[in-house]
Amino acid sequence: MVTATDTDGHLHGLTLTSVTSLSLSPPLFLACLADSSETLGAVLRSGGFCINYLAQSQRAISDVFATRSGAKFRNVAHRIRPSGQVEIAGALAVIECTLHERLQAGDHSIVIGRPVAMHGGDEEPLIHFRGAYRRIGAPLPPAAA
Ligand SMILES: Cc1cc2nc3c(=O)[nH]c(=O)nc-3n(C[C@H](O)[C@H](O)[C@H](O)COP(=O)(O)O)c2cc1C
Repeated sequence: MVTATDTDGHLHGLTLTSVTSLSLSPPLFLACLADSSETLGAVLRSGGFCINYLAQSQRAISDVFATRSGAKFRNVAHRIRPSGQVEIAGALAVIECTLHERLQAGDHSIVIGRPVAMHGGDEEPLIHFRGAYRRIGAPLPPAAA
């Protein structure tokens, strides 16, 4: 998921799967956010965002952040990093970024971030595949025709 601290201090975040590393020199990451996303607005206004790779145990957080609720952080442990970015406590990996570039494509925007800090743990990742949460090594149901 991607989180952002707006210029007024309000916290935003959304569940997303479209995130990847982009460049080694300089180090860059990208995420694709719908232009209708509240979080995208906060990213553009504040000039930064944070990638939080959720752990297998954080499925409920993924569900909350896939909604449009204005109170997503109310029951989710988090902390504000020195960079001003918001970290989800217990995330598998956290990458705090400044906004390097925004590219519009279709009804989404590709936000490219330059990491200013990275840290993480060693839990199993939360995986979403074929419309459902999965576990590494667990058998998959047959693909829909
Ligand atoms: C598994 C999953 C993957 C998602 N991937 C994306 C994505 O890549 N980009 C995106 O903009 N929204 C994605 N969404 C939808 C957002 O989480 C959802 O629209 C959210 O309510 C947006 O919140 P916001 O408007 O507060 O930013 C995904 C949702 C789920 C459940």
